[in-house]
Amino acid sequence: VPATLQAYRASLLHFHADPAFSEEAHAWHADGLLIVADGKVVAAGDYAQLQATLPPGTETVDYRGKLIVPGFIDTHLHFPQTEMIASPAPGLLPWLETYTFPTERAFENPQHARDVAEFFLDELLRCGTTTAMVYGSVHPQSVDAFFGASEARGLRMVAGKVMMDRNCPEFLRDTAESGARESEELIQRWHKHGRSLYAITPRFVPTSTNEQMHLAGELARAYPDTYLQTHVSENADECRWVRELHPQARSYLDVYDQYGMLRPRAMFGHCIWLDERDRARMAETSSAAAICPTSNLFLGSGLFDFERADAARVLLSLATDVGGGTSFSMLQTMNEAYKVARLKGSYLPALRMFYLATLGAARAMQLEGTLGNFAAGTEADFIVLDKQSTPLLERRTAGCQSLEELLFVFALLGDDRAVAATYSGGRCVHVRGQG
Ligand code: GUN
Ligand code: ZN
Repeated sequence: VPATLQAYRASLLHFHADPAFSEEAHAWHADGLLIVADGKVVAAGDYAQLQATLPPGTETVDYRGKLIVPGFIDTHLHFPQTEMIASPAPGLLPWLETYTFPTERAFENPQHARDVAEFFLDELLRCGTTTAMVYGSVHPQSVDAFFGASEARGLRMVAGKVMMDRNCPEFLRDTAESGARESEELIQRWHKHGRSLYAITPRFVPTSTNEQMHLAGELARAYPDTYLQTHVSENADECRWVRELHPQARSYLDVYDQYGMLRPRAMFGHCIWLDERDRARMAETSSAAAICPTSNLFLGSGLFDFERADAARVLLSLATDVGGGTSFSMLQTMNEAYKVARLKGSYLPALRMFYLATLGAARAMQLEGTLGNFAAGTEADFIVLDKQSTPLLERRTAGCQSLEELLFVFALLGDDRAVAATYSGGRCVHVRGQG
């Protein structure tokens, strides 16, 4: 049975390289056509050329005047923290104590976890995020709830149960043994089941005993195609605490290194207070950084150094870090990333920011060829951006003289309202103003 083709006519933008290191990194088709079959991209190019290849009678969805880009990928956020986004505290550690831990306690209840997972996924899709690397709570049932909800929608999602067995409230602790056993059970239940992928998730160095770090590292070696996610070098007080807990370690990142956690598919949130040797280790191990500007500004954690990270060729991606982050929108995340770069004396073109939120993230996750651009055979996860979604965007985009200017306006002024529709696996999963 021949596959049913679906075609979408709009301006198309996607990447096949990093614009920071390549002159011709992006493909732009002002009058473009995206052709999809069986949930995968068949072709992307100029309408004038591709339309002739369509069998007679193929339905073409007319999005002329709008812009289709690959779905955004958010490489670090916490679904239980949906419930406490925008909670005030003077820095990371008091914020964790006062709001985060009490909020995560409620995810022991599977019904609550399911309710929040549904709201969380609605919110991601409204913002045009089609893939995310998600922290659950310490409770394995929170991850069952999350993947149950994401698989029902056919989404490509990565998630894991938080492992933490010290320096947190008793009611949120696993043990080294139970954390590893429950994580392994979740790997067997969910990793590569449908579009789900599992991430081994030790929360961060201060909340894991050496025994738990050891078992998490063993798990990461036993299941090399799983993901690993954690936090590193986010906040000065946290870094001081790690030095006290591990006085023999060369650096915070070195603690993870000693337990074998630097490897492809390892995603390190924040990476603000790294040094040159840390960056070199990340690059040589293909470990990736999740840059979380709205969270870092909100919690006063610090400013990510794009220039040094690029000089070391660290794999980079952008992330919201909800609920430390203050928006689910990757456009708003670009807005803050741009300003962070400026404050560090560097410059982030809009093209680079769109790369980081799409193909850059897919590369950081070792998923190029599956996600992140419109190469033939990739999964058809894409979004439709609307230049006329607000009076201000309409007025401002009308005066744009270049693609860079247009993308910059979307990044600085855009949010969920700019996303007219979201598609996952070739299926429409969100239309603005509906549901
Ligand atoms: N470090 C350890 N846990 C967390 C968390 O939940 N959020 C942030 N931003 N940093 C952390
Ligand atoms: Zn986080």
